[in-house]
Amino acid sequence: MHDLRLARAQRSADYRDQNVAFPASFVFGAATAAYQIEGAAAEDGRGASIWDVYSHQPGRILNGDTGDVAADHYHRLDEDLDLLSALDIPAYRFSTSWSRIFPDGRGPVNAAGVDFYDRLVDGLLARGIVPYLTLYHWDLPQALQERGGWRNRETAERFAEYAGFMGRHFGDRVRQWTTLNEPWCAAYLGHASGVMAPGITEPLAALEALHHLNLAHGRAARELRSAIAPGGEVSVTLNFQCARGSGPTGSEAVERIDVMSNRSFADPILLGQYPERLFDITSHVTDWGFIEDGDLGTIHQPLDFLGVNYYSTLSVRMWDGHSPRLGEDGHKPGASPWVGAEDVEFLPQAGPYTQMGWNIAPDGLDELLRTLSTRYPGTPLAITENGAARDDRVIDGCVDDPERVDYLHRHLAAVNRGIEDGIDIRGYFAWSLLDNFEWAHGYERRFGLVHVDYETLVRTPKRSAYWYSELCRTAALPP
Ligand code: NOJ
Repeated sequence: MHDLRLARAQRSADYRDQNVAFPASFVFGAATAAYQIEGAAAEDGRGASIWDVYSHQPGRILNGDTGDVAADHYHRLDEDLDLLSALDIPAYRFSTSWSRIFPDGRGPVNAAGVDFYDRLVDGLLARGIVPYLTLYHWDLPQALQERGGWRNRETAERFAEYAGFMGRHFGDRVRQWTTLNEPWCAAYLGHASGVMAPGITEPLAALEALHHLNLAHGRAARELRSAIAPGGEVSVTLNFQCARGSGPTGSEAVERIDVMSNRSFADPILLGQYPERLFDITSHVTDWGFIEDGDLGTIHQPLDFLGVNYYSTLSVRMWDGHSPRLGEDGHKPGASPWVGAEDVEFLPQAGPYTQMGWNIAPDGLDELLRTLSTRYPGTPLAITENGAARDDRVIDGCVDDPERVDYLHRHLAAVNRGIEDGIDIRGYFAWSLLDNFEWAHGYERRFGLVHVDYETLVRTPKRSAYWYSELCRTAALPP
């Protein structure tokens, strides 16, 4: 048993808590996603995904980067699994590329794609590493996009078929399953602001995608339950916006962000209903006639835990309609990707910042975990992503990244406070194992514990990797 008084006494205002131990059952891991690391985009029968198409469109990605080669993980699988093993990382969260399994988004199956993930899963198990498999990390098969993509309800059915196949094939070996990663990004950034694939800029498309992604989650969760071995766990990973209000209109702005980005996914999935305010906030866009009878019941499936991705906070107020409205990064004027929050203004926040320009705020994670545990009682939580981008360089064979160590330390301290206060938090996955293709930012943002030289593809564990490795071994934050 933890001594709560002792744990509380160690808490510091800046989250540099020391000698803090995690429960023995707490899972430490590292995370990646298929399109961001695999490369081999056109090999062994893999079909195109929306990210192949989008990244090849001029002007979409910084420096014209694409995921064609990425970290070349497809060809360096054993080396990367050995790295995980050498670093003593007990769990690995990865995603499977739908179009490697079903090149056209539905049958026939591509045996070479299945074989790659067989080798990945078996390689993890052989090294004693627990696989956490995510079925969808944004790389929709292009063939399905051509049939309307997430605007089309049918895509949810195709996703359920894919989930069922994966569950039947891997469900004897993989116990931890996640349906979707950050459907908020897929819906809003992919269909409203257009800064992610498929690059559509229509508010209605974003809301249709939102509902069909939720539906896809529910349909897939149901398929997985009947396909995987007893004791297997099903989850979804959401990115929650932790917004703080500024001035008299701050609370209305916070509520809009909360409704549109957090509750529009978590409420139907965990409570079986959309928040009432969603309908009035978006009435200028749609009457939501695409929700069919029974959909909410389908979406609301029992979950074993909720995956939480957290990086930073937002500061918001309602726009007064006159002053130049600041965009989502709080710096330059810009359109909001939050459909229904077009009148929200995003304010600059105090630093320090990561290479993404995101403010570092472990207190936001602390607050978020408390909010989620109150709002969705009885739902275990796991941090499925958290990490910092940094302009890392290899100098004399080493990468010294003290800011990343500090970031991880303080966010883990925030997680630990939640656990000590009785919140059921099961695990933490650092984003990311490897430097990788950071979507619209291409290769210019490095999140890895392990540095990747994109010329030679040589891997170099950063100082943070050794720090994290020590944490994995001791399950305690070092002094
Ligand atoms: C969340 C996404 O799931 C991941 O793909 C991305 O690289 C990180 N955020 C960092 O932006």
